[in-house]
Amino acid sequence: MAHDLIGLSDLSAARLRELLVSTQDMAGRGRERWWGGELDSTVTALVFLEDSTRTRLSFEIAAARLGGRTVVLSGKGSSVAKGESLADTVRTVEAMGVDAIVLRAGEDQGAQTAADALDCPLINAGAGAHEHPTQGLLDAYALAEAAGRLGSFDLGGLTLAVVGDIDHSRVARSDIAGMTALGARVVCVGPEAMCSDSISSLGCEVVRDFDSVIGEVDGVQMLRVQFERHADEQIGSLEAYRASYALTEARAARMKEGAVVMHPGPANRGLEIDDVVADGPRSIIRRQVACGVWVRMAVLASCLAP
Ligand code: CP
Repeated sequence: MAHDLIGLSDLSAARLRELLVSTQDMAGRGRERWWGGELDSTVTALVFLEDSTRTRLSFEIAAARLGGRTVVLSGKGSSVAKGESLADTVRTVEAMGVDAIVLRAGEDQGAQTAADALDCPLINAGAGAHEHPTQGLLDAYALAEAAGRLGSFDLGGLTLAVVGDIDHSRVARSDIAGMTALGARVVCVGPEAMCSDSISSLGCEVVRDFDSVIGEVDGVQMLRVQFERHADEQIGSLEAYRASYALTEARAARMKEGAVVMHPGPANRGLEIDDVVADGPRSIIRRQVACGVWVRMAVLASCLAP
């Protein structure tokens, strides 16, 4: 049976910890142990039907560091642009003899549809507004590291606020699934047009007043306002959005000692987060990016294991 990774909501806390412990092992490998290993003689296809910088490149680097090769198919310039279906596309790639497919798809069910069509492992690199499991893992790893919880990956007693465009966010769904399974309290913060009450069914709380929680959280994960997925009237005034939901310098100054600022990227600087906060001493945004390579090494090694 193929070792797929579709979403963190499918995984037990024990499996999440296993992947995070493996991530810690990858992080601790000296450079002399890179460029060979678990992925020797393998080819992984990166099928990216939506744009990406971090996820795509970090999967490429992760595979290379474990001795594997990658090939890349982008939506633009491929036969997807001629209307070929997702199932036919991934089956065609698999028929060329790849060992696994890493897929970014626009449809919520894209990863599951592809996995159902394939015999080889399928790793979800972000599907519509469904899940982005390797992002959820790297966020959990980065928060655990900042809070001194490496090793156990027990996030009990920690509170993470996920702020902004929750309804359109696959990152939010994976963060909620992963962080709550590891014991954290997750508070989703945003206006009704972006953060439906129904999101609480995933195991988080919904809060409308950012200022009421900013002083009590251990981490704030700011989300990009996804303009491409909103009608203008849904977003309303950007000034009003900033006043209530941006992580401004003044708001960040009210965070408790040791609390960290996170953003999965790409960020709308000057909208949901100020430059001085994104680049300030609380920010672990660049560390999240670094953790992304180690997480993807761990996931590739696990999913491609015999
Ligand atoms: N966080 C994230 O998925 O970024 P990319 O779209 O650049 O991969």
